[in-house]
Amino acid sequence: MKRTLGVCYYPEQWDEAVWAEDARRMAALGLTWVRIGEFAWTRMEPVEGVYDWGWLDRAIAVLGAAGLRVVLGTPTATPPRWMLTKHPDMLALDKEGRPRGFGSRRHYCFSSRPYRAECARIVTAMAERYGRNPDVAAWQTDNEYACHDTVLSYSPAALHAFRDWLAQRYQSPQALNRAWGNVFWSMDYASFDEIGLPNLTVTEANPAHVMAFRRFASDEVAGFNRLQVDILRRHSEAPIAHNYMGQITDFDHFAVGADLDIAAWDAYPLGFLSDRLPATAEHRRRFVRQGDPDFQAFHHDLYRAVGRGRWWIMEQQPGPVNWAPWNPDPLPGMARLWAWEAFAHGAEAVCYFRWRQAPFAQEQMHAGLLRPDSVAAPAFAEAEQVAGELAAMPDVAVERAEVAVVFDYTSAWAWETQPQGRDFSYFRLVFEAYRALRRLGLNIDILPPDMADLSGYKLVLVPGVATMSPALLGALAAFVGTALVGPRSNSKTAEFATPVPLAPNLPGLNARVMRVESLPPDVPVPLAAGGQFLHWREKLEGSAEVVETCADGFAALVRAGGMHYLAGWPDAATWGMVLRPLCEAQGIAVVEMPEGLRQRRAGGVRFLFNYDAEPVAFDGVVVPAAGVHWG
Ligand code: GAL
Repeated sequence: MKRTLGVCYYPEQWDEAVWAEDARRMAALGLTWVRIGEFAWTRMEPVEGVYDWGWLDRAIAVLGAAGLRVVLGTPTATPPRWMLTKHPDMLALDKEGRPRGFGSRRHYCFSSRPYRAECARIVTAMAERYGRNPDVAAWQTDNEYACHDTVLSYSPAALHAFRDWLAQRYQSPQALNRAWGNVFWSMDYASFDEIGLPNLTVTEANPAHVMAFRRFASDEVAGFNRLQVDILRRHSEAPIAHNYMGQITDFDHFAVGADLDIAAWDAYPLGFLSDRLPATAEHRRRFVRQGDPDFQAFHHDLYRAVGRGRWWIMEQQPGPVNWAPWNPDPLPGMARLWAWEAFAHGAEAVCYFRWRQAPFAQEQMHAGLLRPDSVAAPAFAEAEQVAGELAAMPDVAVERAEVAVVFDYTSAWAWETQPQGRDFSYFRLVFEAYRALRRLGLNIDILPPDMADLSGYKLVLVPGVATMSPALLGALAAFVGTALVGPRSNSKTAEFATPVPLAPNLPGLNARVMRVESLPPDVPVPLAAGGQFLHWREKLEGSAEVVETCADGFAALVRAGGMHYLAGWPDAATWGMVLRPLCEAQGIAVVEMPEGLRQRRAGGVRFLFNYDAEPVAFDGVVVPAAGVHWG
């Protein structure tokens, strides 16, 4: 497969006179793809029912004539102001019940049926017009579902749809009462119409109620997306993508991804390190102009799974962004490194965001490949270099990894609903396990939680999966490799109750969690052989073989054959201590990667990515600062 580059472009923001020159420069730079359209609703339909496709016809034609291929975005993340006059109830309400108003973007509630009808209308009009246009080679639905915290809405529309959803799931209020344990605090309902949304309660709502709402809200995103996909497919054979985000778990991306052809994600490494990722001050300083060495790779592997093998970067940071607490300039080389790392993880395309920096509105301070005066910005030359390298290089095929980590969105909701300790973040738990595997130089696959067949893997990690699916439990029972499950895995039923027999209740493993405790971050639980648990530890009973113990005598790691259970949250060094022998016993070759250097094998090629600001010597190679080496 030929791996390609692209860019995000907003023809509606520029004088038509510059389009041809822009297109010429994009093609000369070596770009293949141009994503357009995703925020242009007021230009497509300035007045209700009055369409203006002329400019979009011409923009697509100009890009196509330059040899570029268009990814056409549906504009449903930015409904025009007139629509709000027509449907004042289309807005989402926040947890306090306040409307999330007009004047930026994503001002809609996924549950608003009138808004869905408007979306169906504009998407149908676009699909009819451009579905067979040879220059439109892919579609994007909406833009970044969940961005700006927009999945959960406490609107009357959401309430109405939630009640319907509950009625379908539980069939009777009595069944719902039983499933949720509503006898506790006399919370029983006599009718689905009595059930509210789980906000504005006096103290915490029933966690089963919250979890039902989270599942519902996720289904609403999937349903909203499916509506668009079904329309597009009726008129077009081009593949359909959505651009997901980093460290966003508010909806089940596997469920949305099942309806799409390509999982794309938007990679802003410096913004993420500054804004999102839990990290020490020293770590943030060290990687401030490069980004976290594992954060991008984690999402590449996650979205490869969400896309069932097909995935892109739809937006790649090209310079400082505007939205993080601090917005440093990437080190020279990073715009190239990030692209190559994506290709090494199997990206079909990497598109930079955006072509030219906007001189107006919210993102004036966000860099593009061009400055506002159209002079090339620093990332321009790096993109050009990548384009040249791609043309010269044989393909880098993705190989199946020996090691896999299960990722489950539902578990993120579960532990947000009932953290039990302030630091219990599901994303963080999985990410730290992933990072520990990368520090051992390994390729990793991320797997969905309903994986029914683990054959081919040697080591599979299942950290923190709240409710392990029958499929996964069956796959583990049949698995001949090493499994490392826990902490906190399989400790809730599908209705968010405590299961009896007690967790983890794994095939063949005689071990029960009889007590859990959460601890402040400065109170570790030391292990007997060195290392420690942080945040969370469990006390086990049962006859399973003890592999590691805590200094206070409780088991830290137990096993029966290849099935292992981990009874706490290891710190970074302890993850390494636990994982190394498991890898070695399976014949998985490990190395100690230097702190800022990572490797990935693809198609017989080993790539080294140096996230440090200094050159790093490793295995007979010196990788330049912010540089890539392959061979
Ligand atoms: C993304 C979004 C883009 C742009 C970009 C700025 O989240 O999809 O439209 O806002 O961030 O970094």
